[in-house]
Amino acid sequence: MADNKPIVLAYSGGLDTSVAISYLKEQTGKDVVAVSLDVGQGGESLETVKQRALACGAMEAYVVDAREEFASQYCMLALKANAKYEGVYPLVSAISRPLITKHLVRAAHQFDADTIAHGCTGKGNDQVRFEVSVASIDPTLKAISPIRDLSLTRDIEIQFAKDHKLPITQTEKSPFSIDQNVWGRAIETGFLEDPWNGPTKDCYTYTDDPAFPPVEDEVTIEFKQGVPVKIDGRDVTPLQAIEEMNRRAGAQGIGRIDLIEDRLVGIKSRELYEAPGAVALITAHEELENCCLEREQHRIKRDIDKRWGELVYDAQWFSPAVRSLDAFIEETQRYVSGEIRMVMHGGSAVVTGRRSDTSLYDYKLATYDSGDTFDQNASNGFIEIYGMPDKVAAARDVKFGNGIEVPDNSVE
Ligand code: ARG
Repeated sequence: MADNKPIVLAYSGGLDTSVAISYLKEQTGKDVVAVSLDVGQGGESLETVKQRALACGAMEAYVVDAREEFASQYCMLALKANAKYEGVYPLVSAISRPLITKHLVRAAHQFDADTIAHGCTGKGNDQVRFEVSVASIDPTLKAISPIRDLSLTRDIEIQFAKDHKLPITQTEKSPFSIDQNVWGRAIETGFLEDPWNGPTKDCYTYTDDPAFPPVEDEVTIEFKQGVPVKIDGRDVTPLQAIEEMNRRAGAQGIGRIDLIEDRLVGIKSRELYEAPGAVALITAHEELENCCLEREQHRIKRDIDKRWGELVYDAQWFSPAVRSLDAFIEETQRYVSGEIRMVMHGGSAVVTGRRSDTSLYDYKLATYDSGDTFDQNASNGFIEIYGMPDKVAAARDVKFGNGIEVPDNSVE
């Protein structure tokens, strides 16, 4: 039985979600409110997207320029956590879903909706991220996916768009499934599903070919408590920092990633990413942490960073676990302030200089020249005590004939 509460749909402006507006209406008898966010994906204006949603039958179209919010409250957390799932993927899509969900729930409350819809399939991580985030913010809301739950396939979409004279031009199937925002771009499906097939030029738009780079680009990034605040001496907001580094690191072909990834749903999938700004900023941030974090704090943080990345990848952005890790990560950033100089060229960003008033690097302790304040004699006692357990255990091994064998060097 249909009630009069509308459905709020995460609307991208593309074919799937455009068709989904009237398909959902037809299948459920409910009105649809389309919600679209600008998270720095570029392309069409929010106004164009809004007009298409209305033309496709949406009762309301709610659009938000969420670029600053995304950059400062989502990308900056990923930067502080040096987030790289499986050591490389900077969580581009994973960090945008919780923010989009927040706005979906806000619209649901505004329009008294009881259901949230999204255009994800039943095979990926994003369906889980949307729905787990919805449940974390408002557990009374239901979730539905027209593709997954109402069997909306590509063929049905195209026929449906024709039959209903929907104002959609892009009925051509793009060779890839793409998700992009200011933190980077994810490219999958099509011929990339054969993991032996190499990426072609048309896979990439954020980066130029690193094999033919322009002259090298030296950049100095100043951080304050883990957040970039100046580039080459000019003040920048988090959004401006990411955009400028996307442009400059992108021109050098930095941040191209090609991997077989373990999805939350248990499938291994072939993914391409390009995230020039994210990769360059994380490289600089990591080096500043090398200077400013105390050794044990730093070792623990590397483990925490890895867990943070896995949990955020696994749809846990709003979970108690991530909240607790956030608190740890935030605390570690107190002294992560200073400047990093990097040379960007031909696909890599290499740090060449660092300086910080809050660095723990101590020239007087580190130097091998005169001016050394480190008492080298203290190392004798240190090694004696530090090596004691090994020495005692080795004596036992020798006693029982299990000592470490040493090659016999005797001349024949
Ligand atoms: N596999 C990535 C992730 O789970 C990217 C998903 C992006 N979606 C897409 N339609 N390409 O974070």
